[in-house]
Amino acid sequence: MTALRDSTALAEWVSRTRAGIGEGRFPARAFNDEAVYALEQDRLFTKAWCFLAHESEIPSPGDYVTRAIANNNIIVARDEHGEVHASLNMCRHRGNVMCKSEMGNASHFRCSYHGWTYKNSGELVGVPYMKEGYEGRLKRKDWGLVAVRVDTYEGLVFGCLDPAAPSLEDYLGGFQFYLDLYLKHGLGGVEVHGPPDHWVADTDWKICAENFAGDGYHTPVAHQFGFNLGYFPSSGTTHSQGWAVSVPGRGHGIGLGHSPDFPAFGGFPDELVAGMKEAMSPAQAAVFAQTRTAVGTVFPNLSFLMQPFSLVPGQPGVRFVTMRLYHPVGPGRMEMYSWCLVPKDAPQDYKTEAYRAYTLAFGQAGTFEQDDFENWTKVTRSAASGLVRDLDFPYVMGMESEPDPDFPGPGHAVRPYVNDTNFRTLWSRWGDYLAGEA
Ligand SMILES: [Fe+2]
Repeated sequence: MTALRDSTALAEWVSRTRAGIGEGRFPARAFNDEAVYALEQDRLFTKAWCFLAHESEIPSPGDYVTRAIANNNIIVARDEHGEVHASLNMCRHRGNVMCKSEMGNASHFRCSYHGWTYKNSGELVGVPYMKEGYEGRLKRKDWGLVAVRVDTYEGLVFGCLDPAAPSLEDYLGGFQFYLDLYLKHGLGGVEVHGPPDHWVADTDWKICAENFAGDGYHTPVAHQFGFNLGYFPSSGTTHSQGWAVSVPGRGHGIGLGHSPDFPAFGGFPDELVAGMKEAMSPAQAAVFAQTRTAVGTVFPNLSFLMQPFSLVPGQPGVRFVTMRLYHPVGPGRMEMYSWCLVPKDAPQDYKTEAYRAYTLAFGQAGTFEQDDFENWTKVTRSAASGLVRDLDFPYVMGMESEPDPDFPGPGHAVRPYVNDTNFRTLWSRWGDYLAGEA
């Protein structure tokens, strides 16, 4: 066993790992190692656009949630004019945490230590003993909450700690086409259905990000019950059909599972489908019509899944959408956030059914969720063990795949859906950041 004891050993490991990704290998150590975790904190999460919240979580002036990027706690709040701000959740006076709730509504935040008070937009407005104590030496305008750069796409609020990073639009690099498959469910878009499930897991964030970048391979095995009992309208024999689509150079990827007998736009109420087609471009509608399951990751740690799930085994599935964030909090450890997204324009009955399907499959105690975490936690534990950590895993599926010229969407689309191409794209981008080249 070798340890990545110093920066030279770590740089050599990153260099070897990047070369290995190009040849279809990825090291176990990446999934549970203190030095790799620290490097990700320094070079990846402080530079990438990281997901903070969905706008529908904070619909009214004063609404806020607290979230994190790397090891920074952040208040995401809607101000009195309706604008969304992200501010470091820290009083500028002595560094105390300002807001101790995960969500709520407040026009102002007041520090519980010395009482400095800020507007929810971050502006410092109240300092006790301002005249008597500071005698004109403190300018309130210089000591507002630290602002974090924010940008949005279709209701998704992202934050970036790097002022020099390219725009969110550039960062997404065309993956918006595929995000719309989850977000343009009618002209009104989507909204969160309730607060997110939120828990801590002894799992490395990358295992989840990879799985949701299109791991159709595990589904018939890890989630075998779904096929056997009739919860999932696909079978092990046809499950590999579809496409793996990635955005080279950006790291984003999506798996599009296709069942020849699954109806186009199936699993949604009829009255919603016309609005969905109107909200999407013809090319997006053409991709959607061929998609049973869409499972994608926005690099680095935000994922989406749309799939049908039968509330009664054997009955037609209800299509639901989940959005999830894997926030790393240590080597092999993360905070998980899982939301259910529903179309704003949908009838209430469908919203309730979709939420039930989501909860049964991918809520914290959901069947698919438990199947996955059972495996992911064990992968994480293995990755830290002495003999395992210097081993590579094979990522050679689809090494020879040529892009499908007939696929109607952008990006690098290969067949079949069961493929490692998206994972090589994902880890290549991760390697760029770890090497300081992104
Ligand atoms: Fe899974």
